Amino acid sequence: MNNKIEEIKNRAENEIKNCVDLKSLEDLKIKYLGRKGEVNQILRSLGDLSLEEKKIIGPRAQSLRNELDTLFEDKKNEFLSKKSRNSLDITRPGKKIKIGHLHPLTIVENDIIDIFKSMSFSVIDGGPEVETEYYNFDALNIPKNHPAREMHDTFWLQDNQKQLTRDTKQLTESRGSKVSGQKLLLRTHTSPMQIRYMETHKPPFQIIVPGRVFRYEATDASHEINFHQVECLMVGKDIGLSNFKYIVEQFYSRVFRKKLSVRLRPSYFPFVEPGLEIDIQCVKCEGKGCNVCKESGWLEVTGAGMVHPNVFRAAGYDPKEYQGFAFGAGVERIAMLKYNIPDIRMFYSGDLKFINQF
Ligand code: PHE
Repeated sequence: MNNKIEEIKNRAENEIKNCVDLKSLEDLKIKYLGRKGEVNQILRSLGDLSLEEKKIIGPRAQSLRNELDTLFEDKKNEFLSKKSRNSLDITRPGKKIKIGHLHPLTIVENDIIDIFKSMSFSVIDGGPEVETEYYNFDALNIPKNHPAREMHDTFWLQDNQKQLTRDTKQLTESRGSKVSGQKLLLRTHTSPMQIRYMETHKPPFQIIVPGRVFRYEATDASHEINFHQVECLMVGKDIGLSNFKYIVEQFYSRVFRKKLSVRLRPSYFPFVEPGLEIDIQCVKCEGKGCNVCKESGWLEVTGAGMVHPNVFRAAGYDPKEYQGFAFGAGVERIAMLKYNIPDIRMFYSGDLKFINQF
């Protein structure tokens, strides 16, 4: 029995020494010290021995158990410390860093820009979001106290000159319009850019101006206090409604990737005459009637019209010489129809579950 213990001891020591990883060390430990392991087998067989033998073999087997236990523990610690020393493995593939992606409104705006560019429109950048009363209203044939101002619930700036941005001042004064004394507001539409552009350019031209606009309104699923428009303006000689109809039809068909008819309805905006409301065939049912178009087959998408002579005059053009059309497309409206988004407020919610779908 003594020899057996000696044999196990040597064998186990050897195997532990040559063991190469944690997993095989665990297996070894089970083999020697497990419930049915070799050391336990010896301890169990003690009952068959004489008292004398028990006295010798018992403690020997116990101390073998303790010795091996220590060896296993030491070997395990050796592996663990090696592992932590080697934990920087520069050959392992790195963790992918999540990169951002475009906001749905940016995707749609970029798409709109591409479509108009391909039809030879120039894309004009911005214009000031803090606008003067003159550009937002007066120059667009909406004089003070005109009821049409009611259509635009306006954020007026309280302490005018203090909140005047350098941009607005420079932009406006460089064109000879006085800013001092002007009431300031957050622009309610992108149409002021019609005047700003015409003041400094000669026809013929065809432009779009994407931009953010603001309305002092209660919010709900289809109203937000800020949203985006793309102003479209084409001015030249002999420009008529037929040119206009072709462009809107092209534009909306290409945005929604399907051939859509357009319907023009009479409407009123002070800066156009005639003023029009543009309907497109429903993008979902294509005119048959469904829940999106409330069974009418048509969707109202934008205000439009032929540029009013007073607007040309305000910009320094002779209305007898030039004609033009304008419309202001809502970007959110297009994005909502395109992606089936039920609530305009989602765009600005910052909700990643929403944003990450695009
Ligand atoms: N500016 C108008 C609005 O925001 C839309 C419009 C633009 C209407 C151009 C006619 C011509 O309501």
